[in-house]
Amino acid sequence: MAPTILMTDPAHFEVDYVINPWMRPEDWHRDAVANRAAARAAWTGLAAALRAAGARLEVLPGAPGLPDMVFPANAAVVLDRRALLARFACAERRPEEARFRAGFRGLQARGLLDEVAELPEGLYQEGAGDCLWDAGRGHFWAGHGQRSLRAAIPHLAAFFGQEVVPLELVSPRFYHLDVCFCPLPGGELLYHPGAFAPASLAAIHERIPPAQRIAADAEEAGLLCLNAVALGRDLVMARTSPRLRAVLAERGYRLAELDLAPFILSGGAAFCMTLRLDRSTAPALPPQALATLPAG
Ligand code: ARG
Repeated sequence: MAPTILMTDPAHFEVDYVINPWMRPEDWHRDAVANRAAARAAWTGLAAALRAAGARLEVLPGAPGLPDMVFPANAAVVLDRRALLARFACAERRPEEARFRAGFRGLQARGLLDEVAELPEGLYQEGAGDCLWDAGRGHFWAGHGQRSLRAAIPHLAAFFGQEVVPLELVSPRFYHLDVCFCPLPGGELLYHPGAFAPASLAAIHERIPPAQRIAADAEEAGLLCLNAVALGRDLVMARTSPRLRAVLAERGYRLAELDLAPFILSGGAAFCMTLRLDRSTAPALPPQALATLPAG
């Protein structure tokens, strides 16, 4: 079965306010027409790369005045056909909640989801951007301290009935877990150690042996290439560094590197422009396929 990925049409995307250190409205508005065209081209390129890697896409409409709807990773956490809708920390994005709620109810009506639930109001949690399923280890990793509250984590654990490992984010530049932490299908972790509080870094290192750690420095993480979509051996990501390109290739990954500059100007890249709708607790690959992945 093809992986099913949700995206949001980029027609209303722009950079018009500042809610993270990447966002520069003045750069966007210096040539909004060209930037809009570049964003459309970059989005289309991402959609094509995901399809080429075997994904089936579902596309929700955006809405005027809600430019960041183009990042549906922030809309919900989805596992085993159950969606827990996000609560946005920033007032600018809060009106997205009603739009995404309607969109997800539509997906449920079409049989793509079994359940769409909500977090209590005020319990900020920005979806899969701050809650990543680690298929190999069978638990979530959840970011808090920037956009999502630590208090939301017990709700994630209770709703999904899964272990959730909290990770405290300490850098405004790396404000969502998905820009600094990327578990790979072969068991490796691509991450930027500088984004985490010491105790959280220790928790990562306790669970992931050195041979499976691929550390990116601040400059590499600053390319937002850790915000990657992994589909088996295919990694769809913003342009990465020559060093990481070589490390990942050596581990057996095929990279599709894209120019996502218009979205990076908003602090987002490949992963947060997507949301997997078919993520499940069942192992992603049959045992024979796992055996052919490189040893971590
Ligand atoms: N401008 C958006 C924001 O600041 C970008 C979100 C990117 N999403 C992510 N999961 N990294 O909310």
